[in-house]
Amino acid sequence: MQNESIKSLHEALQYSPDNVPLRLHLAELMLQEKMYPEAAGQFTETLNRSYGNTRAQLGLASCYYHQKKYSAAVIVYEQLRDHLPQDAMVLYIRCLIKENSLQQAAELYQKILVQSPGFKDEEIDQYLRLPSSSATHQDIDEEEEMLSQKYFMEKPRLKFEDVGGMKRVKDEISLKIIDPLKNPALYKAYGKKIGGGILLYGPPGCGKTFIAKATAGEIDAKFINIGLHDILDMWVGNSEKNLHEIFELARKNAPCVLFFDEVDAIGASRSDLRQSAMRHVINQFLAELDGVQTNNEGVLILAATNAPWSVDAAFRRPGRFDRIIFVEPPDAAAREEILQSLLKEKPTESIDTKKVAEQLNDFSGADIKALIDLAIEDKLREAMSLGTIQPITTKDLLKAGRTQKPTTLEWFASARNYALYANESGLYDEILRYLKIKK
Ligand SMILES: Nc1ncnc2c1ncn2[C@@H]1O[C@H](COP(=O)(O)OP(=O)(O)O)[C@@H](O)[C@H]1O
Ligand SMILES: [Mg+2]
Repeated sequence: MQNESIKSLHEALQYSPDNVPLRLHLAELMLQEKMYPEAAGQFTETLNRSYGNTRAQLGLASCYYHQKKYSAAVIVYEQLRDHLPQDAMVLYIRCLIKENSLQQAAELYQKILVQSPGFKDEEIDQYLRLPSSSATHQDIDEEEEMLSQKYFMEKPRLKFEDVGGMKRVKDEISLKIIDPLKNPALYKAYGKKIGGGILLYGPPGCGKTFIAKATAGEIDAKFINIGLHDILDMWVGNSEKNLHEIFELARKNAPCVLFFDEVDAIGASRSDLRQSAMRHVINQFLAELDGVQTNNEGVLILAATNAPWSVDAAFRRPGRFDRIIFVEPPDAAAREEILQSLLKEKPTESIDTKKVAEQLNDFSGADIKALIDLAIEDKLREAMSLGTIQPITTKDLLKAGRTQKPTTLEWFASARNYALYANESGLYDEILRYLKIKK
């Protein structure tokens, strides 16, 4: 019977070779009849006449799969990636397994499981050994409690005044995200858009994470610190769901500062990541960012990176991280403030912080902290042998400053090159100014 139909369809096509639906119908019948090479031929003919035809592509890939031409099938499926019906997805995953792309396979399988929790495929399970459990409904509060623990939601007591120096950064954060949060109506009246985030960049240890936390403390908001590991450590392919979870958690807990540390890992240029799972994470991240802008005004988004040049340009579009701030190493006055702040509750003589600060060119805040720790260790040893508390002195700090090396110089060695040779639209002018290469 089927063969009859195939035969007459064949004949009909002789008369109208450009009839795409007819040819598709024939090809699909052939596929059903397991005539794989013939079906593949017809699907290819169809694609020649109707470029990008999804049904033909799906059929062709399926032929390849049955002919064990797995890498060919993968190429076709890859193009359809976001539009694959479930049965095609299953074939795609099996092809990936045959091609040994297990991570990608696992990621896609996870996607199916999210959509249809009860789904099972013995053949795939055998290779990927996914935990068989899937999401069950929990009490909402319990779930939120779990999420806030999972992402370490906290309410910091740190305030701007605890952060030494960084006046410009504090001003920018106030103007760009704190003031709008406090006076949304005012901003709206002047037609100013609320939303978008701030991307902090600069050498390590200069207070990016610190100021993000203090931003939350400053406005009595909750703080969620999302590190790279939070996103990557999770089961491959689950990251998109996790990202959504994180943004939802922040929205529910507004006012909330949502801080993405080492965002370069999420935002690495998409072109470098063509095949990888991260490409989807980035797109999801951007979608969530845009979502925050439209439906949530109580969520402040901050991100930090030591490697801004690795962050995908799409992150910098208006409404996303459209404010990029250089967090520079503290100058002498700022170093003095940092010293004072870090020594506040320690046993000290009256310390000549000005003198110490002047000796600490190129030291980051973290370097200063390390230096104080060093001095304290020395003092502790002394105190233990003498049996009494020995206050820290100016001399102790100067001595520790001589043994400790600043860590920011290495960063500037590479930053300088990016600022000089990859400084699109003056993005890194602040680095050049800091290095006194530019006025
Ligand atoms: N401006 C500052 N004022 C006070 N402490 C600072 C400052 N900058 C850095 N520190 C100290 O150094 C530590 C490391 O800074 P951090 O914010 O983690 O640096 P980054 O995120 O830029 O790598 C902080 O926890 C804090 O103790
Ligand atoms: Mg940090």
